[in-house]
Amino acid sequence: MTPLLTVQDVRVRYGSLAALAGVDLSVHDGQRHALIGPNGAGKTTLLNVIAGATRPQRGGTVRFDGRDVSRLGPAARARRGINRIHQRPAVFSTLTATENVVVAALPRAVPRRRWWPGGRRRAAQHRAGPLLEQMGLADVASVPAGHLAHGQRRQLEIAMALAGRPRLLLLDEPASGLSATEVGRLVDLLRALPRAVAVLLVEHRLDLVYALADTVTVLRDGQRLAAGTPDEIRTSPLVRQAYADGVA
Ligand SMILES: Nc1ncnc2c1ncn2[C@@H]1O[C@H](COP(=O)(O)OP(=O)(O)OP(=O)(O)O)[C@@H](O)[C@H]1O
Ligand SMILES: [Mg+2]
Repeated sequence: MTPLLTVQDVRVRYGSLAALAGVDLSVHDGQRHALIGPNGAGKTTLLNVIAGATRPQRGGTVRFDGRDVSRLGPAARARRGINRIHQRPAVFSTLTATENVVVAALPRAVPRRRWWPGGRRRAAQHRAGPLLEQMGLADVASVPAGHLAHGQRRQLEIAMALAGRPRLLLLDEPASGLSATEVGRLVDLLRALPRAVAVLLVEHRLDLVYALADTVTVLRDGQRLAAGTPDEIRTSPLVRQAYADGVA
């Protein structure tokens, strides 16, 4: 089966530093794929390349859903179904949780070139409730995002990313800064996501990785060090060594 996403020979340099030094990665439909590795390994850079925010050097390609999307920017890739949350939470703090989701849902609230009763905004509002419910935020729908707990803001960002109707959801350290209880809640919510959405998860919290992922890729120094099932990765001496050397 052709993968949903295929990244081939991606290279990104910052001056003399090779942030990505020829990385290959595939994500299949519905897969839960985790990307782990020490600080500075290139994980966020790889998500940026997949989302279209960072251009790799010539030669590297990103194919999504059967097409070469290497030359498309982030908005065009989002329209094709690649949505993301960032390493630093990004919500509109003065808007309520519902309003944040409505804003995120607007561009794809209505099927393209279709007339819709009540228009785009009504359609977006209609979608916000179920998305908040799905992300465990129904009770705080009318609370300004700035007043939400950190874990709830993370959940809100995921609801916003889902509002883009992704086929591939890119999550960059969704558990960072969360308490153990909040991580547990996040695991439950992510496990409940429909399989129509594939997930590429960057995470240092290995408990979350092992609870969620069916495939794990390990990056180190901009290169793929290992890839396999969670059990293979957990017991790999190579991976243990990489973490012993590099994790903050
Ligand atoms: N805009 C930039 N300019 C210069 N160097 C950068 C830039 N972005 C990333 N880097 C460098 O590229 C390397 C890879 O960074 P990246 O953020 O992808 O790592 P990461 O695996 O996400 O790390 P972390 O786990 O700390 O988030 C690092 O050495 C980083 O300092
Ligand atoms: Mg990062």
